[in-house]
Amino acid sequence: MWFPVRTAQSLLANLFNSRFSAWARKSCSLLLSFLFILPANTAAGAQAAPSPSHEVTVGSAAGINDSKFDDRIESLLRSMTLEEKIGQLVQYSAGQPTGPGTGLADYKEMIARGQIGALLNVIDTPLINEYQRIAVEKSRLHIPLLFGLDVIHGFRTEFPIPLGMASTWDPSLVERASRVAAFEASAIGIRWTFSPMVDIARDARWGRIAEGAGEDPYLGSAMAAAYVRGYQGARLDSPDSIAACAKHFVGYGAAEAGRDYNTTEISQHTLREFYLPPFHAAVEAGTATLMSAFNSLNGIPSSANPFTLKQVLREDWRFKGLVVSDWSSIGELVPHGIAIDGAAAARKAILAGVDMDMASSEYHDHLAALVASGEVPQTRIDDAVRHVLRVKYALGLFEHPYVDESRAKEAFFLPDSLQLAQTVAEHSFVLLKNAASPNGNPLLPLSKDVKSVAVIGPLADNPSDPEGANPSAVKSEALSFPAELARRLGANNVFRAKGAGILSGTDEEISSAVTAAKRADLVLLTLGESPDMSGEAASRAKLGLPGRQQQLLEAVVSTGKPVVLILFSGRPLTVPWAFEHVPAVLAAWFPGTEAGPALARTLFGESNPSGKLVLSWPRSVGQEPLYYNALSTGRPPGKIDLTRPPSDTESKYVSRYLDEQNTPQFPFGYGGSYTSFSYGPTSVNKTKLTAAELNQGLAGGSGQTDVLTVDATVSNTGSRSGEELVQLYVRLEGTSTAQPVRALKGFQRVALAPGESKKVTFQVPADALAIWNDHNRFAVEPARLTVWISPDSASGSEAKLDILP
Ligand code: BGC
Repeated sequence: MWFPVRTAQSLLANLFNSRFSAWARKSCSLLLSFLFILPANTAAGAQAAPSPSHEVTVGSAAGINDSKFDDRIESLLRSMTLEEKIGQLVQYSAGQPTGPGTGLADYKEMIARGQIGALLNVIDTPLINEYQRIAVEKSRLHIPLLFGLDVIHGFRTEFPIPLGMASTWDPSLVERASRVAAFEASAIGIRWTFSPMVDIARDARWGRIAEGAGEDPYLGSAMAAAYVRGYQGARLDSPDSIAACAKHFVGYGAAEAGRDYNTTEISQHTLREFYLPPFHAAVEAGTATLMSAFNSLNGIPSSANPFTLKQVLREDWRFKGLVVSDWSSIGELVPHGIAIDGAAAARKAILAGVDMDMASSEYHDHLAALVASGEVPQTRIDDAVRHVLRVKYALGLFEHPYVDESRAKEAFFLPDSLQLAQTVAEHSFVLLKNAASPNGNPLLPLSKDVKSVAVIGPLADNPSDPEGANPSAVKSEALSFPAELARRLGANNVFRAKGAGILSGTDEEISSAVTAAKRADLVLLTLGESPDMSGEAASRAKLGLPGRQQQLLEAVVSTGKPVVLILFSGRPLTVPWAFEHVPAVLAAWFPGTEAGPALARTLFGESNPSGKLVLSWPRSVGQEPLYYNALSTGRPPGKIDLTRPPSDTESKYVSRYLDEQNTPQFPFGYGGSYTSFSYGPTSVNKTKLTAAELNQGLAGGSGQTDVLTVDATVSNTGSRSGEELVQLYVRLEGTSTAQPVRALKGFQRVALAPGESKKVTFQVPADALAIWNDHNRFAVEPARLTVWISPDSASGSEAKLDILP
């Protein structure tokens, strides 16, 4: 695939990259006109947009499921020719050739003939309106086009990468951020984003772990729903709402060995309990669309998989929206080996339930012949077209097809949007370590005695674009991190040294960094990956600091100056040396537009970190895939002593490594604060539950009804105010299928003043105790239930009770 797209900004960067094909580079002229010529005229038929609302909405489920579209869909369908129907199922990318031997397409003729249903990566507003005018005014049936783009973590106002957004554990922040993204993207005419990525990811080698919400299905579901609500707003047909697309359905995150696009084998039990729930949550929240994945799932590629696309999605979940393929994933059925040619690929994909072909052109090239030969029934084409039309009706495109070209003037970088980007960034930081400085206090927040700092490392100026030729093109709206520091400490007290590039570096650079470190009271070391080392097609076999950064780290630490390490990355990095020798480490991910102010405020204590890990942070790459909600083996190890060989049978023949702990460096759910919290015992309001009763509730549709109350008292034992993210975990033993050693079932953010205590109460609904059992259905089974209220997935006191038959 040609576009490793993360944000609109990275799309622009990508188009300048020599790796990309000629047609992509040609599109630059369109993009440049978008960047430099703000559209001035208002298109006729455009609907005025309200100003952005950052209020959290109650969801937009009515949009896609509304039965009021049914008659219109049917009547339009009746008037369509087969060619027009197939046209609705075809999507191309900006400038992409449309068939073998053809040159770059400008699509106008095809649109006029009704041969295209959607376009992606067209981001020039006048061109969007021009194409739309052809569809609406020149095509026989006047069906509007749908314009899509990867708007992943903001459009112009960039929020933290999704992994960072999830680390806030705050769905309302994610919803508000997605609302801003929708507001900005829709201002240029984009009404469909290929987001959220809701793939569960257990392996940090997989680059796309950066694009999701980590390893947990409960948190992943909460985040999935939040994105959908944010993008789609209270009304999907509002001009500032965009259709969401939950991707990649399904199992893509389980790519073997963490290598992108690789095969996956996932049992139904694991699929149902871990990989499917975030998709289900997105569907329940009303997502208008889903994207089928690249990966082969249990031998059948996800883009031709009738079990997931028909049985699960349409029959079990009653999804009424549109399923689009991933980029060329229909054409890729040929190299997957389940289709001998493009025609077979098109047949398998459409029959399995993929409605729209993104970029492979197989539907355009083959569907008509497949229908003529009877290999694909006309009824299946009709169904796919219904799904496309439903989304277009729900977006209000038939009533308001054009974008108001004056909107873009006032849509980007609004003060509220920037403020929100800063808040989300601050909440996304995870304080991994904060040990005492020489004066006995933790190093962070920085003490008033710190009068000068050395800012060292390749990621300080612009983590979003560290090697960018012109960083100001992205950062123009925000103060950089060094500039923020200079504002606070005075420019003469901030010493800047790059020290090394991400992958490059010289001895001279390292020694200038050491000189800068020696001049300052304290060092802020910004190390990690560049953003293009995570995301699509960016898997890594090594998870340490790339290039010469480890050498730089050791040289700077050896000066004896106190060091705060700020890690920028799209995944956890295995840096055990740093965790041992550096007193303070902050995981900053990629914080977005407001990185500078958010970091400065955090370091100076104006913001107290409260982010928590949404993945298990490995010690060594050899531990991957690593996730807290694993099953126990028959031979769980006790405490592992790596200093001597496991010579006796008791410690040797257990599930362990000879040369590494089983435990992560930091567990899922972990994150520090500038204050400290203590947890009282976990208590439950019942001594037993009854499976039969709970199952009756599930069958009667009241699975959400609370059946158990769990509480614990949490206290702020430090000297600062802080927010603690309190987590609820359960374990079920004695069940027909083995269940994880712990599973997250709730979380709450609690604000506590110094010395303050609060009782934190969780209500547990019946469906939180249901498992995918040996009869292949969800049910509550008799079991021993253990519950914990804890600050992370590896600690806390437990309470037990029985679930009786
Ligand atoms: C990615 C998708 C993305 C699509 C369109 C594909 O390569 O896997 O996540 O939405 O390209 O850019």
